[in-house]
Amino acid sequence: MAEINASIPFDKRLWRQDLAASVAHARMLGAQRIIEADAAARIVGGLEQIAADYEAGGVPVDMALEDIHMTVETRLAAIIGPDAGRLHTARSRNDQVATDFKLWVRDAIDGHLAAIRTLATVLATRALEHSATVMPGFTHLQVAQPVTLGHHLMATVEMLKRDHGRFADARARLNQSPLGAAALAGTGFPIDRAATAKALGFDGPTANSLDSVSDRDFAIEYLTSAAQCALHLSRLAEEIILWASQPFGWVKLPDQWSTGSSIMPQKRNPDAAELVRGHSGRILGLMTGLMVTMKGLPLAYSKDMQDDKPPLFEAHDLLELSLAAMAGMLETLDFVPERMRLSAASGYSTATDLADWLVREANVPFREAHHITGRAVKAAEEAGTMLDGLPLETLQVIDKRIDDRVFSVLSVEASVASRTSLGGTAPNRVESAAEMALREIAAWG
Ligand code: ARG
Repeated sequence: MAEINASIPFDKRLWRQDLAASVAHARMLGAQRIIEADAAARIVGGLEQIAADYEAGGVPVDMALEDIHMTVETRLAAIIGPDAGRLHTARSRNDQVATDFKLWVRDAIDGHLAAIRTLATVLATRALEHSATVMPGFTHLQVAQPVTLGHHLMATVEMLKRDHGRFADARARLNQSPLGAAALAGTGFPIDRAATAKALGFDGPTANSLDSVSDRDFAIEYLTSAAQCALHLSRLAEEIILWASQPFGWVKLPDQWSTGSSIMPQKRNPDAAELVRGHSGRILGLMTGLMVTMKGLPLAYSKDMQDDKPPLFEAHDLLELSLAAMAGMLETLDFVPERMRLSAASGYSTATDLADWLVREANVPFREAHHITGRAVKAAEEAGTMLDGLPLETLQVIDKRIDDRVFSVLSVEASVASRTSLGGTAPNRVESAAEMALREIAAWG
């Protein structure tokens, strides 16, 4: 029983939050004269000593003491004597754990917000550096149209901006204090919930005591936000893995962000990126796990809910590491613009530009222009050349309306430069998008 019941092996991680919430509660009990002022002072003094002890030596794990709440209370009794027993007046472990956990999640979110900010800054800075570097843009992982590397990197910045928003929203929504809901029904003592809420940095107290002790939306919302962010990191990681592969050769991983092989001396493996991709799977599983844990629970608290903490602790550590690794990698990896350009140019990626030119300059309906362009691509394939390597005579055999002005749009540089529509890949668009994002990101912090 002791073994299945105990949460202390993992919930000891809540010790800072547990002590802070207990200090706030004890002060409120004293101020409301629910306990005597000097008893409250002794309790607060004892809790402060426990904080110093745990800071120095960690939290001792005694399975018989079940959880962090009993561990602290037992230690408090050893330090200050019987007055320790007054701390739990007008409180239950149910509202206590909900409060502690919310405080922990709030801190976790603050850490992620800062880490997302760092990564987004790195990406936008590199996007600015490569606002005119040409690479192939894909659909179906087939070369589609040339884009700029800066544009590609800024796509990920947009994802991270949404991740930041999701975490910030989750933080705002969770910031109400459950403390004072007691076991499930509230209490008959004249507590001041607004005071404890304020002392702990909450916007105010929660409204319904049953909901207060049974709500784990904040934990689930944390995990869904984390899963979404991890998913974005995984997609970026996948691209780095692909780009670092020799047939691509678009990026060169720095030594500090790659590993060797124990048998093949030439290897430079993208292990960090692969682990970020792998970790996203685990985070997604943790999210699913907690949702399944919660889905059948009646009001109010059930002990199943003790299982809410390990998935968040694990997801937090994995995401924090993933964000840091991606920032480090992206900051230091070398892009290889020549190889990117070669790939962009070799896939007939400017075919759409030829079709658009026919529409614009020769007033050809787009469908017909598409057809003519298809024949030009076929001719280029047969001649073993790129579109802009076809002689004008060949193009004119395909359609006599084509003249030599067409060559100004057939290069990959001309293609990207022409895509100046809002949100498009033209270097000047990318440059201002990156500058704007950097300003926006700086204002987050
Ligand atoms: N260790 C418990 C948890 O993490 C604390 C709440 C226990 N409440 C109770 N009524 N047994 O959920």
